[in-house]
Amino acid sequence: MTWLESQHEMSKEDFRLLRDLIYTYCGIFFHDDVRYIFERRIGARMRELGLATHQDYYRHLRYHPKRRTELEEIVELLTTNETYFFREEYQLRAFSEEILPELIERNASRRRLRVWSAGCSTGEEVYTVGILLRENRKLDGWNLEVFGNDISRKVLQVARKGIYGKNAFRVMEPYYLKHYFHPVGNSYAVDESLRSLVSFGYLNLLDGEMLQLVGEVDVVFCRNVLIYFDASARIRVLATFHDKLRRGGYLLLGHSESLVNVSTDFELVHLVNDMVYRKACTDLELGRSA
Ligand SMILES: C[S@@+](CC[C@H](N)C(=O)[O-])C[C@H]1O[C@@H](n2cnc3c(N)ncnc32)[C@H](O)[C@@H]1O
Repeated sequence: MTWLESQHEMSKEDFRLLRDLIYTYCGIFFHDDVRYIFERRIGARMRELGLATHQDYYRHLRYHPKRRTELEEIVELLTTNETYFFREEYQLRAFSEEILPELIERNASRRRLRVWSAGCSTGEEVYTVGILLRENRKLDGWNLEVFGNDISRKVLQVARKGIYGKNAFRVMEPYYLKHYFHPVGNSYAVDESLRSLVSFGYLNLLDGEMLQLVGEVDVVFCRNVLIYFDASARIRVLATFHDKLRRGGYLLLGHSESLVNVSTDFELVHLVNDMVYRKACTDLELGRSA
């Protein structure tokens, strides 16, 4: 009998135990209808470790001295990392044409702007925001920072390298490729002018201790991350964003994500290009006369 034949089908109970353990660790929730994907990916790790039953794997994740490393490994296989430059372009237009001018006015005396890309995957979102900041001449000489975090170390390695194949640029205007990248073989590498304002770090959005390392920010991009979480994990992460944002700071979610039934801490702002969320503040703080 081969190893594969000896591996049992995942029982409902094993699925529940493993799913809940992974959910508690990182917030990603697997519904019953995607159990087969979950089972296949868990199976790959069990094969690697030479474990025959799902109970063995569960015990490994709970009690093995290297359980932390294994949680990180399995999460690598369970996350969806799809991303590309200039994703959801209308929202980026709202950021550069409507949000940035407001923040530039509000932060004029500090001349500092911090943007957090939470769940940045391979970095395209971080560099995209970097391009939009560099394109705004009013920000010349400012202290600018865009930092990206992810729970996958593998995607962060790619992000730090900053070298991308053509597919990553499929919706980006050629102008930006010419001005912010240089060719390396069949791919393109990020220029130093962009690299110098970004940074990347490992972070689990559900890990309170790690989150203490994140300081105050003006804007949070968290796009296409919360769709994989359930309501209670979303509520926790949104409370973190609320905590980290300056008053009047903006939260930009993916187009299929909304705060309806999840958080009332943010106000919905109708901009010309998109609807976005903002941490409440007074008119005075927004720089408007009441
Ligand atoms: C689909 S990608 C989104 C990338 C980018 N924000 C975009 O919209 O193109 C989702 C990313 O969220 C990350 N992620 C999932 N759970 C996370 C958690 N608990 N903490 C940090 N990152 C997480 C995944 O590893 C993945 O790279």
